Amino acid sequence: MSSAKGLDGVVVSATNISHVFGEEGRLVYRGYEINQLAAKATFEEVCFLLWNGHLPKRDELDTLNAALRSRRTLPPAAELALRAMPKEADPMDALRTVASAVGAALPISGKPSYDQAITLAAIFPTIVAGFNRLRSGRDLVAPDASLGHAANYLYMLTGEKPPENHVKSLDTYLVLLADHGMNASTFTARVIASTESDLASCVVGGIGALKGPLHGGAPALVMDMLDQIGTADNIKPWIDQTLNSGGKLMGFGHRVYRTTDPRAEILRDMARQASTPEFFALARGTEEYAIEELNKRKPERRLYTNVEFYSASVLNSVGLPRDLFPSTFAVSRVAGWTAHVLEQMVGNRLIRPQSEYTGPQGLTFVPVDQR
Ligand SMILES: CC(C)(COP(=O)(O)OP(=O)(O)OC[C@H]1O[C@@H](n2cnc3c(N)ncnc32)[C@H](O)[C@@H]1OP(=O)(O)O)[C@@H](O)C(=O)NCCC(=O)NCCS
Repeated sequence: MSSAKGLDGVVVSATNISHVFGEEGRLVYRGYEINQLAAKATFEEVCFLLWNGHLPKRDELDTLNAALRSRRTLPPAAELALRAMPKEADPMDALRTVASAVGAALPISGKPSYDQAITLAAIFPTIVAGFNRLRSGRDLVAPDASLGHAANYLYMLTGEKPPENHVKSLDTYLVLLADHGMNASTFTARVIASTESDLASCVVGGIGALKGPLHGGAPALVMDMLDQIGTADNIKPWIDQTLNSGGKLMGFGHRVYRTTDPRAEILRDMARQASTPEFFALARGTEEYAIEELNKRKPERRLYTNVEFYSASVLNSVGLPRDLFPSTFAVSRVAGWTAHVLEQMVGNRLIRPQSEYTGPQGLTFVPVDQR
């Protein structure tokens, strides 16, 4: 039996939730093209869609909004855990730890439920914003129930009512990142769910998988890359040197897309409007040369811009510190993780693949002092 490295091309589950059409550059949530949802839906509507399979009617959306807004406050034990985080901690480590504390404190136990999914989605922004306040010596800002999910997240970060264009940008970002087929963190959450573990454990596992630079950790590295490039005339030498020395260009390439990620195209238009002309010109110039060069060097792979490249510009433009980009990705993706866990629970079967054993056999045990 041979193994499929990275499970490349292996179908591990059927799902009704979302699908990446990699050759065509399309992403669909529950039958709706991502472009439509990005233009017209709020993050809350997308949460409802992912969790329930249809867009909410007015009264259904009102009920969900009321539930999300009423569950933003951390339980006392989780707030203590948040306050105990070292200021230098990686924000993803803080989110992972405090989300786990929320699971223990509420508690979130038993069979995963829709109600628990709402609670976790409601509370994620409070953890991320709260950690950012405390590490910079400021106190927590209580959530504002008059604000929607994106607006309240920005409000809890700054203590000020955010401008409408920032709210719109962040809300669209949250819509775009909420789900993405069988990505690594979603698969992780589903594997945990398949053991009949609890929903908090599933999302905590998802956070761990999302943290890596090959998944959700790339956008801050995109900003670092653009900083290092600095000016238009340095694009070519910087990229050439990075690729010649075997380095990877952050924000490019994808396991499934063989053309531009549709989310990158939407985010590019948003970044064009939200960034300074100089910054956008640098990002666009980097993108164009990177694609040209990657495709020259790896024509068989068809490497294009992925979601992380312009996520960085958009999140930067709404004032988020760059080390909060991955945890802001998690604020969105928790909707997808929880939807997938609920789906996994219907007719669940333990996910337990096999491995191809390549180690030795037939060795004879030697006691420790005789080795
Ligand atoms: C996203 C990513 C992990 C997909 O990985 P994958 O499907 O396993 O693709 P591979 O790593 O097999 O790529 C195939 C080849 O293209 C190269 N390649 C892929 N993405 C590249 C990039 N961004 N820069 C330079 N080379 C890249 C690989 O080095 C590999 O070369 P090799 O055949 O000589 O080993 C990969 O493209 C990557 O590391 N991108 C940069 C990080 C990033 O943007 N992450 C966010 C993802 S949304």
